[in-house]
Amino acid sequence: MTKAESDARWMAGQAAPGLVTVGDPRLRAGGHPIEDVAEAVAVLKRMTALLRELNGAGLAAPQIGVPLALAVVEVRRTALFPDRPESPLLWLADPDLTALNEVESEDWEGCFSVPGLMGLVPRSERVRVTYRMLPGGESVTQEFSGYLARVIQHEVDHLNGRLFLDRMTSMVSITTVDNYQRHHGVELQA
Ligand code: NI
Repeated sequence: MTKAESDARWMAGQAAPGLVTVGDPRLRAGGHPIEDVAEAVAVLKRMTALLRELNGAGLAAPQIGVPLALAVVEVRRTALFPDRPESPLLWLADPDLTALNEVESEDWEGCFSVPGLMGLVPRSERVRVTYRMLPGGESVTQEFSGYLARVIQHEVDHLNGRLFLDRMTSMVSITTVDNYQRHHGVELQA
């Protein structure tokens, strides 16, 4: 599947093959702490390859049916999101997240487990995350802000069985991806 095909599939509201979608209890079960580092690294590698194939910004293990507290984040500009700030690949194992801003800001989110829909989601602008760096396993604490902080909050929510829909304070903004582009987003570049 090419990136353009993946974008087209998501925009049409079709789930990517192998992805767990809303309504499946595995999404609500979240992820358990990791025990086997080699297994966790193998899962992270699979998720990284899939994230790049899907042209996404983040992916959590429950979304591929693996009940572990693992997420990958890598923000890239895409045809659909040409303005978002890019960030290097980040592997999060057993992340523990603290929101640092009391005031939240709203921005658009979508999710490969909720194909075809987007909505405005309030999130903290800055977060502190303690996680294990793999393959070494050492614990690190880092702060993140802006769009990256938003993506990380979205992925850590998956590990706790939460979807962006749960975080919306109103359903008024919910839109198909097609209508997001037409009315709320930017012009698609070929
Ligand atoms: Ni998601």
